[in-house]
Amino acid sequence: MTDYSGKTVIVTGGAKGIGEAVTRAFAQAGADVFCADVDTEAGAKMAAESEAAAGSITFVDADVSKASVCQALVHQAAAANGGVDILINNVGIQPLDSYLPAHEFPEETWDRIIAVNLKSGFLMTKYAVPEMMKRGGGVIVNTASVQGRQSMKGVPAYAASKGGMLSLTQQLALDYAEHNIRVLAVNPGTIETHLAVESVDGDLEALRSAAAAAHPIGRIGKPEEIATVMLFLCSDAASFMTGEYVNVDGGLMAKGAWAE
Ligand SMILES: NC(=O)c1ccc[n+]([C@@H]2O[C@H](COP(=O)([O-])OP(=O)(O)OC[C@H]3O[C@@H](n4cnc5c(N)ncnc54)[C@H](O)[C@@H]3O)[C@@H](O)[C@H]2O)c1
Repeated sequence: MTDYSGKTVIVTGGAKGIGEAVTRAFAQAGADVFCADVDTEAGAKMAAESEAAAGSITFVDADVSKASVCQALVHQAAAANGGVDILINNVGIQPLDSYLPAHEFPEETWDRIIAVNLKSGFLMTKYAVPEMMKRGGGVIVNTASVQGRQSMKGVPAYAASKGGMLSLTQQLALDYAEHNIRVLAVNPGTIETHLAVESVDGDLEALRSAAAAAHPIGRIGKPEEIATVMLFLCSDAASFMTGEYVNVDGGLMAKGAWAE
C-alpha cells in the first residue's frame, strides 16, 4: 500500500458510506484527512477514531454546496500542513422523494441535487487547486456513477449531475495537467450504503438481491472496494492517468442491455 504520510487529503461527504471508507483508508495509510460532512454525529464518531489511524482524521461540519463553506474548509486543511495534496469530491444525494420524471420534478429539488452533487465539485476544485499548486501538484478524484454513463427512469437531476461530473473530470484534467494535477473519476455500481438502501425504502435485503441479479459479479459492492481504487488512483502507480474514469461496478457497464 502507498504511504500517504505527510499528505493532506479532503474528502467531501466523508462521514458515511463510500466517503467514510475513503477517509479511513487514507488515514490508515498515514494521511491527514479532513472529512467534510453535514452529519455531525457520524463525523464526531470518525474523528474519535482518529487516534487509531497512522495519520489523522479531522471532522469539519461543512455543507459543501456553499462557496464560503468550501473556501473555509480548504483554508482549514491547507493551514494545517501548508497546502492540499488530494481532493476527493465524493458527496452525493439522491433523496427518496426525488424519483420522478422531469415534468413532475420540483425545481428546488433539481437545484439542490445539482448543487450538492455537481456544483460542490466545482467549488472545492476552485479553492483547492491553488493549494495544490503550492505543493507542485495534486490529485482530484470525483465520485461519479454508472448513472453518468447509462440511465434509468425517474432520475433526471441525479443522472445530469453524474454525467456533469464525468464531463467536469475531463475538462479539469486539461486545464491542470500542466500543473501536475491529475483529475479522475470513479463510477461505483451499487454499493451498500445509506444512499443505496434509502433508494429501496430501507429494504436492505431487497437491495442486496437486486444488486446481485444486476451485477455480473453476483453481489452488491462494498464501500472499501471503492476506497482501494481511489487510493491507487491518487498514488504514483497511476501517474500517467488523468481525465479518465474507472468503473468499479462488478461488471455492470460491461453488460449490454440485451444481456438480460
Ligand atoms: N451507494 C451507491 O450505490 C452509489 C452508486 C454510485 C454512485 N454513488 C455516489 O457515491 C457518493 C457517496 O454516496 P454514498 O452511497 O456513500 O452515500 P451516503 O448517503 O452513504 O453518504 C453520503 C454522505 O454525504 C453527506 N452529505 C450529504 N449532503 C452533504 C452536503 N451538502 N455537504 C457535505 N456532506 C453532505 C451525508 O451526510 C453522508 O455522510 C455519492 O456521490 C453517490 O452519488 C453511490
